[in-house]
Amino acid sequence: KRAKKPAGAPDKALAKRITKVGVIGAGLMASQFALLFVRRLQVPVVITDLDQARVDKGLAYIRDEIGTLEQKGRISSDEANRLRALVTGTTDKADFADCDWVIEAVFEELGIKQDVFAEIEQHVSPEAVLATNTSSLSVEQIGAKLANPERLVGFHFFNPVAVMPLIEVVNAPKTDEATLSTAMVIAAKLRKNAVITRDTPGFVVNRVLAKVLGETMHAVDEGTPFEVVDEAVKPFGLPMGPFELLELVGLKVGAHVLDTHHAAFPERFFASDNLHRLAEHGKLLERDGKGNVTGY
Ligand code: CAA
Repeated sequence: KRAKKPAGAPDKALAKRITKVGVIGAGLMASQFALLFVRRLQVPVVITDLDQARVDKGLAYIRDEIGTLEQKGRISSDEANRLRALVTGTTDKADFADCDWVIEAVFEELGIKQDVFAEIEQHVSPEAVLATNTSSLSVEQIGAKLANPERLVGFHFFNPVAVMPLIEVVNAPKTDEATLSTAMVIAAKLRKNAVITRDTPGFVVNRVLAKVLGETMHAVDEGTPFEVVDEAVKPFGLPMGPFELLELVGLKVGAHVLDTHHAAFPERFFASDNLHRLAEHGKLLERDGKGNVTGY
């Protein structure tokens, strides 16, 4: 059976060959997808972050997860060793010089992302394709300081990266066909379902999640406890209650997604001061030593 060509997908023949992947950021999302790139593309992957401690933490996560795949019998020990050897960490952007696909998942702030790309453009070849994992910022604005913005595309993963099947490939107004085609071919190699979205606030999925989070946070602000809201909403067929999900993606990320939507569509999306206070507090759910939720 022939796979259906995703709507709006350009000719695969335009895709560029990827021989080395660069990942900017070594946090929760970046280290998860760095692992997926090395596993599915079988090419060297280099990760970077602000300092060596952050890089080491990301590398440790990737090596642990490779160990878990080996223990589960998903990969052989030879394969595990090969994958570990393909992943390196650096704090020197010059090590990105031979990367032909560079993707970032740094802090969700427009100015930071713009500067990250302006800096990386100094180091990579003019042919390299650049991607952002932003969850709700404008891809076009992220590329505003690039000399070649046509080689930037949105490539939005969902958490947990290993499990969630979707990637939103964001076709920004300046993104060219070769860049879009490269992103689609990579998504297929990662064995994800890719959809091509417009460069609009929240793309598609976060629009829906922001609606759920805004409404449920509002119910909490009106006095219904978190655990009651989670218990009430989860039976709609969701794998997690909205607040368990909020903790999974991170409270600061959730607050940011909500702010972006409220700023873009104030009449349609709630903002929540309470969510910002919780994000500062850093935690919503209480867990026991095994990670089970014991309270809110
Ligand atoms: N990393 C790797 N694998 C993971 C994982 C993680 N963080 N979390 C779970 N898994 C794997 C487990 O290893 C297990 O795999 P195997 O069967 O191969 O062993 C499998 O997923 C199922 O895990 P569990 O049995 O522990 O748990 P579960 O069945 O309750 O599923 C869940 C957990 C997959 C997280 C599920 O609850 C779920 O799908 N939740 C919703 C997640 C979601 O909506 N994500 C989108 C968030 S929005 C976002 O990320 C975008 C943004 O911009 C904010």
